[in-house]
Amino acid sequence: MFNYSIDTLISKEEIALKVKELARLIDEDFKGEKVLLIGLLRGSVIFLSDLARELETEATLDFMVVSSYGNEMESSRDVKIKKDLEEDVRGRNVVIVEDIIDTGNTLKKVMEILMTRDPKTIKICTLLDKPERRETEISIDYTGFKIPDEFVVGYGIDFAQKHRTLPYIGIVKKEEEQKDEK
Ligand code: IMP
Ligand code: MG
Repeated sequence: MFNYSIDTLISKEEIALKVKELARLIDEDFKGEKVLLIGLLRGSVIFLSDLARELETEATLDFMVVSSYGNEMESSRDVKIKKDLEEDVRGRNVVIVEDIIDTGNTLKKVMEILMTRDPKTIKICTLLDKPERRETEISIDYTGFKIPDEFVVGYGIDFAQKHRTLPYIGIVKKEEEQKDEK
């Protein structure tokens, strides 16, 4: 393990404003209809909770746990469902809510799986997007912030299960090793 500090990238106030903006966009798109918000555990929980409370659109909440791991032999990613939805998505307006989209591989697979279940519509809402890291094309309907290729934590996002409860988004900065001056 290395020493690190956390520098604020996006403040609590900036996040709150953005969440309101995203909620207004979703409300515009689903006037009078209902949505099923699907959060991917655990990273999206805090974002989803705030977003859901800003929506005027009637929403049902459900959650999935997926695990992705690299298959070094094939240099492709496989995504397994570790906990599936409780809700039936058939004929529903689905909005997948994600904390951060990086390579895009996780969301791509989740989209493929959900598409086979015949939703009426399916959209993606992510708080953060790291476009430089994308490995697969994915169309994002609602994006909070595009960020540079840095490792971030906070507002649900972890580093080895730590820092999810920070109210802001911070960049993990590795600190130079202390050299002993003798
Ligand atoms: P991907 O788009 O399939 O590469 O995976 C996105 C997932 O990787 C996110 O939902 C996070 O769980 C994790 N992730 C990507 N970037 C970061 C980061 O900067 N900090 C913490 N987790 C990250
Ligand atoms: Mg995640």
